[in-house]
Amino acid sequence: MANPAELHDDTEFVKFWNEVLAPKFIRFKHVLVDGLSQHSEAVFPALPVRVGDAVLDVGCGFGDTAIKLADRVGPEGRVVGIDCCDAFLDYARQDAATRGIGNIRFERGDAEIALPVNEYDFVFARFGTMFFTNPVNAMRNMRLALKPGGRMVHIVWRTRDDNPWLSMAKDVVMQFLPPPGEDAQTCGPGPFSMANEDMVRGMMKSAGYEDIEFKRVDAEVVVGKDIPDAIAFQIALGPAGEVYREAGEEAEAKKPEIEAALSMALKSQKVTGEGLMMPSSSWVISAVNPG
Ligand SMILES: C[S@@+](CC[C@H](N)C(=O)[O-])C[C@H]1O[C@@H](n2cnc3c(N)ncnc32)[C@H](O)[C@@H]1O
Repeated sequence: MANPAELHDDTEFVKFWNEVLAPKFIRFKHVLVDGLSQHSEAVFPALPVRVGDAVLDVGCGFGDTAIKLADRVGPEGRVVGIDCCDAFLDYARQDAATRGIGNIRFERGDAEIALPVNEYDFVFARFGTMFFTNPVNAMRNMRLALKPGGRMVHIVWRTRDDNPWLSMAKDVVMQFLPPPGEDAQTCGPGPFSMANEDMVRGMMKSAGYEDIEFKRVDAEVVVGKDIPDAIAFQIALGPAGEVYREAGEEAEAKKPEIEAALSMALKSQKVTGEGLMMPSSSWVISAVNPG
C-alpha cells in the first residue's frame, strides 16, 4: 500500500530539504554523518532492539543508522528508513544494495503527515525530530507506528551553549550580517528546538508516551577536515549557514572578512587525525508507547 504521506503535496519545509539543503548535506556528509555518528554510537549497543524486530528509522538521511539497525535485527527482522528527501534516499538505497542488505527498505514520507500504524517494535530517529514544525503531532505519528509496548529513541541537540560546534560560528557571522528575518526560508524549527528537557517531556506526554527518560551524551565532533573545510561547512549549513544564506549579496560581499574571522575563531580548536574537533552535546530520549 502506498505510504499515505506520499499522497500529499510537499510542504515548504520538505521542498527546502530537497532543493536547498540536500546538495549541501551531500557536500558535507563527512561532517554530518561520519562526525555526528558518535552520538548514536554512544547509545547503539544499549538500544532495546532484538533479533527479529521490525524497526522504523524516521528522518533516516543517508541511511547509516538504518543499515546498522538492519544488522542488529538480522534476517528475521526488517528495517524501514523514512525520509522526506529524495537525494538522501537514493544514497541510502545504493549503500544498502552495495552492502547486499536484504532486510531494509527506504521510503519517501513526511513524518508530520503520516507514518505506518501499529507495525514496529522500535522507532528510532537521530537528529530528525528537531525539524518538525508540529512536533507533538509528528511524535504522536511515531508513537502510533509502534506496537503497544514498543519503545522509541530519538537523539536531539542540547543547548546552544553546550554545542559550540554549531553556535560559535553563528556568533561570529552575526558580527557582520543581520539576523534572518521573520520570513526566512528554513527547514523547520531548528537544531536547538528540543534542547529543553521539561518542554520536550511535556510534548512527549502530549503525544501519548510513557516512561520518558533523558540521557546526556557529550562528544567532540569533526567540524571539517581542516580550517578551510570547517569554514565552508559553517557558512553553508546550520545556524551560521542560515544567517549567511539569508543575507544574500551582503554575505557574498563580506565573505573575505567573515572567513578571516571564522578562521581566527577556529584556530584554537583541537586538531586530530580526523580533522578539526569541537565539543557537542545531545539528549538521547527514550519512551514507551503504552498502546
Ligand atoms: C539532520 S538530518 C539527520 C539525518 C540522519 N538521521 C542522520 O543522523 O544523519 C534530518 C533528517 O530529517 C529529514 N526530515 C526532516 N523533516 C522530516 C519529515 N517531516 N519527515 C521525514 N523526514 C524528515 C531530513 O530530510 C533529514 O534527512
